[in-house]
Amino acid sequence: MQELVSVNSVISKPQDAKISVYDRGFLFGDAIYEVTRSYGKVFFMIEEHIARLRRSAESIQLDLGKTDQQIIEEMYALAKEGGEEDVYIRLQVSRGTCAFKQVSIKPQNTSSANYVMYLHKLKNWDSKYYEQGISLGICKTLRNSKDAMDPNIKSGNYLNNILGLLETDEDFDDCIMLTKEGMVAEGSTFNVFMVKDNVIYTQPDDFDILQGITRKILLELCETHNLQLEKRVFSVEELLKADEVFVSSSTKEVMPVIKIGKNSYQAGGGEISKRLAGLYKDYVKDYCAKAKKDHPIDF
Ligand SMILES: Cc1ncc(COP(=O)(O)O)c(C=O)c1O
Repeated sequence: MQELVSVNSVISKPQDAKISVYDRGFLFGDAIYEVTRSYGKVFFMIEEHIARLRRSAESIQLDLGKTDQQIIEEMYALAKEGGEEDVYIRLQVSRGTCAFKQVSIKPQNTSSANYVMYLHKLKNWDSKYYEQGISLGICKTLRNSKDAMDPNIKSGNYLNNILGLLETDEDFDDCIMLTKEGMVAEGSTFNVFMVKDNVIYTQPDDFDILQGITRKILLELCETHNLQLEKRVFSVEELLKADEVFVSSSTKEVMPVIKIGKNSYQAGGGEISKRLAGLYKDYVKDYCAKAKKDHPIDF
């Protein structure tokens, strides 16, 4: 598949795409983003992703300047041009270009928002991550506090998470980030759940985490399938003593954790992780079947 980029609605090959070096996303990370994947030709939970983009935009007073429908149509137009199924789009919106070529952090004198969309063929995770699990280190860099840079703002600046990854031992696949109090926040790009005595634990919604769309679906599934769920803060010590740990994100879906630091868990995940992984797959199938009828764009 040819990789494509859309910059302010102009589609081109990545090497031909142009954005000003005065773009505020490039200069300051003054941008927000979403990642959404398609199953076949259907962008999964696209409405939720755009709603979250809008919430991020509102939190940083960025004027998106487009309706949700316009954004969705542009994403489908890009995917149509790529002509492949099972794709990934990263949509990044910056506050715009500094109008007077002044490198000043003050968010004034900027053009309207700059939209950049990256289209790639979805890279599937190696099956070992589902048959065995992902291994995670616990990094010293703390997750941003809600009172500083709210993790719910899906900001184009991921330095907090990058610092966490940089200090994580190479033997691990990824890292878990904590709060100042030593409580489990989330992974570099995923939410973290634990299971103890058949109860599934996730952080409260207003904790220092990004409220993942995958996490939200899993919470709904727990409710509809009478799985015991408790929303409460939990510590690293509890995590290490958990019966099962799994992580969630749009691209990982439900992925079991096999190791955290020196602590090992059941390969391939325990009963509850497996159950939720299956329920999530069914949810995706149902969504896609319905979306084929409801999504206005056919390509
Ligand atoms: C920090 C962080 N937490 C959680 C998630 C999972 O979110 P979602 O399930 O919406 O993909 C992501 C995804 O990018 C993330 O970057």
